[in-house]
Amino acid sequence: MAIVGIVPAAGSGERLGTDGPKAFAACAGRPLLEWSLDVLETVCDRVVVAVPAGYEHGADRVRGAASRSASVREALRAAPEATVAVVHDAARPLVSRVLVQRCLDMLAAGGCDAAVAASPMSDTVKEAGNDGTVVRTLPRAGLWSVQTPQVFDAAALHRALGVDDAVLAAATDDSSLVEAAGGVVRLVEAPPENLKVTNTVDLALAEALLGDRELRAAPRG
Ligand code: CTP
Ligand code: MG
Repeated sequence: MAIVGIVPAAGSGERLGTDGPKAFAACAGRPLLEWSLDVLETVCDRVVVAVPAGYEHGADRVRGAASRSASVREALRAAPEATVAVVHDAARPLVSRVLVQRCLDMLAAGGCDAAVAASPMSDTVKEAGNDGTVVRTLPRAGLWSVQTPQVFDAAALHRALGVDDAVLAAATDDSSLVEAAGGVVRLVEAPPENLKVTNTVDLALAEALLGDRELRAAPRG
């Protein structure tokens, strides 16, 4: 069995608004991407990163593509030995080894093609029209907000990604593509700190939480 980490890191980070790509922006003293790599490298046999053009230095770096899932497809293509794929966004630096392992264990238990980190919705969720008029309030019970890590049977992910670029571009995660291909997806409840860095507020929060984590991990004395 080969467990391969697949890290989409090829986005531009428009909403964060830093000079370069988001995955390489500084977060608590190092490039954002490196926090996730530290964790994935402890559980995966190899980690392939999809990076923006011009960042393909070193082994296991492939050029990403126009959409997030197309970048995942490029990275997966570079890892034909994978039997299990651990897909994790570079934008979630607070991922933990425990969370990845819980997803791996869920997949290994059988009966599903993917095990994905998720949190139960805590806000009331409404559907609204373009003018902001509410159409309906959705019953919140059973609604989850889905994150990464997402752990897949690699063959199932490979099949799911074998669709048109337009379908990949419309997908907001990879597990929905596996569902569309008839696969079974299970949720693993994630801790609240597994946030995604999208804007500057998220970055400030991630830096505070990572700083706190480093302090707790540092040897006393
Ligand atoms: N990503 C990617 N290839 C793309 C687009 C996104 O690999 N064509 C990656 C990003 O680098 C990020 C993850 O997918 O790690 C989640 O995307 P998002 O948070 O939207 O990041 P960006 O696309 O970089 O940000 P923005 O949408 O604000 O431009
Ligand atoms: Mg994006």
